[in-house]
Amino acid sequence: MNEFEEIVRETLANPQNQGEMEDADSVGTVGSPDCGDMLRMWLKFKQQDGKKVIDKASFQSFGCQTAIAVASMATEMLKGKTAEEAEQMGAEELSGDLGALPPMKIHCGQLVEGALKNALGNEPAQTPADDTDTNTLAQSMSLAQSKPKQSGKIKIIKLDQ
Ligand code: FES
Repeated sequence: MNEFEEIVRETLANPQNQGEMEDADSVGTVGSPDCGDMLRMWLKFKQQDGKKVIDKASFQSFGCQTAIAVASMATEMLKGKTAEEAEQMGAEELSGDLGALPPMKIHCGQLVEGALKNALGNEPAQTPADDTDTNTLAQSMSLAQSKPKQSGKIKIIKLDQ
C-alpha cells in the first residue's frame, strides 16, 4: 500500500464531518457524469472578530473513497475561513494531507471543490420550501442517473438547478 492509499485508509477509518447538517446556511451538490459519484456539502457561517467565517462544514457522499477522504479533510480545513478564502481553495489544497491526487483520482478532489463552490454560490440558504434542500442525496442520484450520460473529459455538473 503506498502512502496515498495509507492516508486514505486512515482518513476513512474516522471520517470527519460526515452527514447532513440540519441548520446549514447553504448546501451545494455536484455529480461527476463520468464516474456517477455525487457529493453534497453543507456550510454554516458565524460572526468572528467582525468577519463572517465558516463555523462548520459537513458532507455526504456515496461511492468513491477518495472523495470521502478529501471531503473529510476539506471540511476540517474550512472552519474559520471566510467565504472569499474558501472560494480560493482548489482541489489540491482541499486534499490536505493526501497531497497531490493520483491522475485517476484528480476528479475526486474536483468533486469536493465543486460542491464547496456550489454551496458558496448558494449562500444564503434556500428557503425550506425549496425542494433541493429536502432532496436526499439518493434522490438526486437517481435523478442524475436518469439524465443522459456525457462522455469525454471530466465535467462536474451542478444538481441544484
Ligand atoms: Fe469519481 Fe472518485 S472515482 S469521484
